[in-house]
Amino acid sequence: MKEGKMKAVFCPKYGPAEVLELREIDIPTPKENELLINIKASAVTRSDIFIRGSDIPLLFRIPMRIYLGILKPRRPIIGLVFSGIVKQIGKNITRFAPGDEVYGMTGFNLGAYAEYTCIKETDSTAGCISRKPKNISFEEATMAVYGGALVLQYMGKGNIQKGQRIFIYGASGTSGTIAVQYGKHLGAEVTAVCSGRHADFLRSLGADRVIDYTTTDTLDGDPRYDFVLDAVGKAKTSKLKEACKKALTANGKYVSIDDGALQLDSQRVDGLTTLIEAGAIKPVLDKIFPLEEIVAAHKYVEEGHKRGGVAIRIDHESGGAR
Ligand SMILES: NC(=O)c1ccc[n+]([C@@H]2O[C@H](COP(=O)([O-])OP(=O)(O)OC[C@H]3O[C@@H](n4cnc5c(N)ncnc54)[C@H](OP(=O)(O)O)[C@@H]3O)[C@@H](O)[C@H]2O)c1
Repeated sequence: MKEGKMKAVFCPKYGPAEVLELREIDIPTPKENELLINIKASAVTRSDIFIRGSDIPLLFRIPMRIYLGILKPRRPIIGLVFSGIVKQIGKNITRFAPGDEVYGMTGFNLGAYAEYTCIKETDSTAGCISRKPKNISFEEATMAVYGGALVLQYMGKGNIQKGQRIFIYGASGTSGTIAVQYGKHLGAEVTAVCSGRHADFLRSLGADRVIDYTTTDTLDGDPRYDFVLDAVGKAKTSKLKEACKKALTANGKYVSIDDGALQLDSQRVDGLTTLIEAGAIKPVLDKIFPLEEIVAAHKYVEEGHKRGGVAIRIDHESGGAR
């Protein structure tokens, strides 16, 4: 790799995983209010799959394309989450210094499938950035920031109290695995829903009870729940999901992770860092793919049955700029 150049994954048009292309481009220069991040890991999240464009439900397709580009992505380097090291700072930066380990999301700017990206230190729809937890890897940090930000935002709507019964629908994914651990941290009794293959794993994360949505359709005779979180989103459903909407106590609350937009909130992510460093939450990593295998990584996530999340390792030693 030539001096001043970096590897980046381009999405030149919406379509299947094969549209993604690895290219060599100039390393960006941070403006006065930006940091240059040397990205060590990114992830393939459900959002990246939506953005690439192959399976956006019609309901979301029109508003998302107004933001992201009508016929092709306005910002062709995609990738929503990052972890890495601050390489350089603009003169107005106050919260971070070169060498700091950080993690965050790039919002509508995307650009995390690259060796470097620039981001503002203040929260906006163009991203948020926080100090990375010291006790997890760069790859785990990308799972944490995506799933953790979703879980803290949407479980926060439940005002969950110690001893309450909560129900996590879709507990085996990036958000679900964090939701189960966060529920236990709050002192709740947690019922987790997944397919049978992930049942023992969810018990190992602390779930008090596990229900297989592929073999159970009703909650007849079950206790009522104080809080239900749909952690997989509205596009995935089952008879059991319909049943859990009615299995609430009189003051119980049902919240979908798709109710409204994800807030890019660095204070919330700072709270997540504290929880992770205290050992209350450990992000779950299914697989790590190198940046060069981004097409295979997207195809794997599209199969829809990963456990936890899928990270992308960005190896600066394999020819990229250091
Ligand atoms: N509000 C926002 O702005 C916002 C932003 C980003 C994402 N989201 C939402 O958050 C969702 C969750 O993302 P995520 O990455 O945490 O999930 P995920 O990791 O994609 O979830 C994967 C898991 O879903 C389970 N699953 C598949 N079909 C299911 C079904 N019919 N019923 C129950 N579980 C099923 C699979 O488990 P099994 O193998 O056990 O079946 C798999 O482990 C996204 O899909 C999106 O809808 C919302």
